[in-house]
Amino acid sequence: MNSFYSLSIDKIEKNTAQSVVLTLGYEAKLAKKFSFRAGQYLTVRHHSEGEDLRRCYSICSIEGGPSLQIGIKKVEGGAFSSFANEKLKVGDRLEVMPPSGKFTLKSTSVARHVLAVAAGSGITPIISHIERILLEELNSNVTLIYANKTPSSIMFRERIEDLKNLYLKRFSVVHVLSSTPQDIELFSGRINADKLRGIVTSWGQNKSIDNVLLCGPEDMVHSLRDEFFELGVPHEKILYELFSTEKRKNMQPVKGKLTTLSEVAVTIILDGVTHKLEMNGGDTILSAALENSLDAPFSCQGGICSSCRCKIIEGSGEMEVNHALEDYEVQDGYALSCQLRPTTNKITITYDEGH
Ligand SMILES: Cc1cc2nc3c(=O)[nH]c(=O)nc-3n(C[C@H](O)[C@H](O)[C@H](O)COP(=O)(O)OP(=O)(O)OC[C@H]3O[C@@H](n4cnc5c(N)ncnc54)[C@H](O)[C@@H]3O)c2cc1C
Ligand code: FES
Repeated sequence: MNSFYSLSIDKIEKNTAQSVVLTLGYEAKLAKKFSFRAGQYLTVRHHSEGEDLRRCYSICSIEGGPSLQIGIKKVEGGAFSSFANEKLKVGDRLEVMPPSGKFTLKSTSVARHVLAVAAGSGITPIISHIERILLEELNSNVTLIYANKTPSSIMFRERIEDLKNLYLKRFSVVHVLSSTPQDIELFSGRINADKLRGIVTSWGQNKSIDNVLLCGPEDMVHSLRDEFFELGVPHEKILYELFSTEKRKNMQPVKGKLTTLSEVAVTIILDGVTHKLEMNGGDTILSAALENSLDAPFSCQGGICSSCRCKIIEGSGEMEVNHALEDYEVQDGYALSCQLRPTTNKITITYDEGH
């Protein structure tokens, strides 16, 4: 289930003072497993002080290209991002799962305008999308609105400039800087719904928006998604990826019917083996599985990445947060086990049908 592969760090490039781009190498026989679509991410595993750290990183290299790259921005006090920025060396190895994720856009031969909005490290999957569209969809245009604090914190700055020069007529970029005043007031400050509306309406009628790609913090993504909808872009044309959620830490038990019960009988099917455990109704199924040393799949633990997807086959449960599953999947019994708390005193889930 948890198929991690040992990949080599072939190159480390300092992208900004606070971020690095890692080029990962793998044996030729893994080429198919590690082929990816623009927008997908890798789960990286690292053991630190007895802890099994797993983090997702979006692939920033070009789909179908020769390299597999991820960009990691250091988060203050962040366990893995600090390690990656400060300690990793060329020649080290990382345990990595094959690409995953649904932040992908179908290719089309019909001309379209794709508007991408990224904040900070949210550029990583977006840059991969932009390059694919510019290279493959010869009649399509792309606009990037990219929010950062200062010019020096802009990731992939040169790469974006090069793309702008190469695709003068098809690619435009608007930098919005929160800590550096700019000549145009609209491009200064934090990106929010009002600013977005101001930028988009300043184009007039000459740029209709066919698809939107959003990546950044949860509050920004949600407010911009609502604003794009108000501006007339249907929900199904707005794709987004979250890197973290407010709820990731300090999660409280949901007020489910039976979450106050002290003992729940849980059956977990994993890799064809049935495990029977007792758990506290306030815990998540994933935490119960890990406490019982099961090798259950997980990564973000924030209801974002869907690595921990399982299917409920008996009983029921409630998810605290769900940013990854569609309504129809939930109706079919699928759930994110990192968010799932039982609401019946007996529950059976399988990881084997979850993926
Ligand atoms: C699908 C997906 C794709 C991702 N792609 C990328 C990527 O391409 N590049 C990248 O740099 N990161 C990416 N992330 C975020 C990444 O997985 C980690 O969450 C991030 O690197 C922090 O991990 P850490 O171990 O350093 O911090 P932790 O030790 O987990 O957290 C330390 C502190 O930082 C806060 N925190 C955690 N994540 C963030 C964040 N993203 N921004 C601000 N504060 C945070 C925590 O709440 C905590 O207080 C992605 C996340 C997901 C779910
Ligand atoms: S581990 Fe990412 S959604 Fe559960």
